[in-house]
Parts: sequence; C-alpha cells; structure tokens
Amino acid sequence: MTQDELKKMVGDLAATYVKDGMVVGLGTGSTVKFMVDALGHRVAKEGLKIVGVPTSDRTAAQGRKLGIPIKAVDEVDQIDLTIDGADQIDADFQGIKGGGAAHLFEKIVAINSKRNMWIVDESKMAPKLGSFPLPLEVIPYGSQQLFKRLAAKGLHPAFREQAGQRVLTDSKNYVIDLHLGQIDDAFRLAQYLNQQVGIVEHGLFLNVVNTVIVGYADGPKVLQAPERPNYRDLKA
Ligand code: A5P
Repeated sequence: MTQDELKKMVGDLAATYVKDGMVVGLGTGSTVKFMVDALGHRVAKEGLKIVGVPTSDRTAAQGRKLGIPIKAVDEVDQIDLTIDGADQIDADFQGIKGGGAAHLFEKIVAINSKRNMWIVDESKMAPKLGSFPLPLEVIPYGSQQLFKRLAAKGLHPAFREQAGQRVLTDSKNYVIDLHLGQIDDAFRLAQYLNQQVGIVEHGLFLNVVNTVIVGYADGPKVLQAPERPNYRDLKA
C-alpha cells in the first residue's frame, strides 16, 4: 500500500466515528484531507447533519466546498470530537504537531474538544518524540533575539522557509523548528517553551489525544490512550 492509501484508509475509518448532530473539529494536513472528503461524502449522500470547526484556512475552504457547514471555534458552545493528523506520536500517546504550520489553531480547537482523535500512517509512530523537528509559532517582532536564545540553550532552531521566504502561519507569525533529535522529557521542555516570551505556541501536544488510528499495510489499528488530565488543566 502507498502512504496515501494508508492515509485514506484511516481518514475513511475516522469519518465513521462522526454522528448526526455533532460539532466536529477538523484538523489540517494530507491525512485529514481524506477524512474531510469522506465527511463531505456522508453529508451529501446520507444527509449527515454536522458543524465543522476548521483548524486552518485550507481545511475551512475544503469543508465549504464539500457542503459541510463551517463555524469558527468561538461560534460554537463546545466541540464533540476533533479529528486531526500528527507528525509524530510516542509510546505514551504524546505528540508533535505543526509540520503544516497549523498547530496553534489545532491546539486551540483540541483543548476545547470533549474528545480528540489522531489519524496517522505507521511512519508517524515512534518510541520517543524528537526525530521530527518540533515547530514553534513565534511572533515576528523580536524573533531573531528569541532565535539566539533558543540556539544558546542548545535547541538547534531553524526558521522555516519555503522558496527562500519565511513561512507565515494563518495568523501571520513565523515558524521556528527545533531540530532536537530526541526529546527525553517532553513535559519539562513544554514548560520551558511556555515561559519564553514571543513563542505563541509550541507543537508538543501532551495528554491531548484520546484515540489514535494508525494505518498499517494489513489494516487500521484503533488505539486508546489512557484517560488522564487534559492539557488545559496541566497548563493552569
Ligand atoms: C499541521 O500543522 C500538522 O499538525 C498536521 O496535523 C500534521 O502535519 C499531519 O499532517 P499530514 O497528515 O499531512 O502528515
């Protein structure tokens, strides 16, 4: 199976978890794109009644095109289930997100959701986080100073660029990727990053996910994370 076939397999399966009347958080990325397609199909063919809360301009445009009613996160009371991709998931169900520069909105939608599901192909599963660079969304003002501080701390920062230009998020911020190799204590690192002025949000998603669907060549596996305090309570 190709990677795209694995992504479609988990995307299609995830869409079956959505029930009539739900407010659904719609993640961002190539895997979620298949899931949103499948949801659009259910809306058109089954008359499924849902509201989608997108995590990026890209996903909002795709949802609208498919006829999925779209609302912003502040226009809904609560989100029943958010389905998103991930860049890396470790053995403890902690994750790195932001490879698509959307982790700020993704985290806001995730912490306002009753349940969170991640859909990935098997290449995203790793014993430890860190071989995927950790994205930070940073305010452009003062970002060079912030960059220097991160470098001095040994965190191997690099501004994300595309075609020689700094990548801008939907909020017109920069992305700095930390090339860490391996993260030994993700909670400690998250605490440090939370304290740095100029970092709007980092891509460590700790104690966020409830269910992970992993696409393997011999079929999808549905994994349940242990029930534990939500990320928003950890931050308080
Ligand atoms: C977006 O910023 C990310 O958090 C995505 O959810 C993540 O990059 C997964 O994307 P793919 O499904 O394209 O790998």
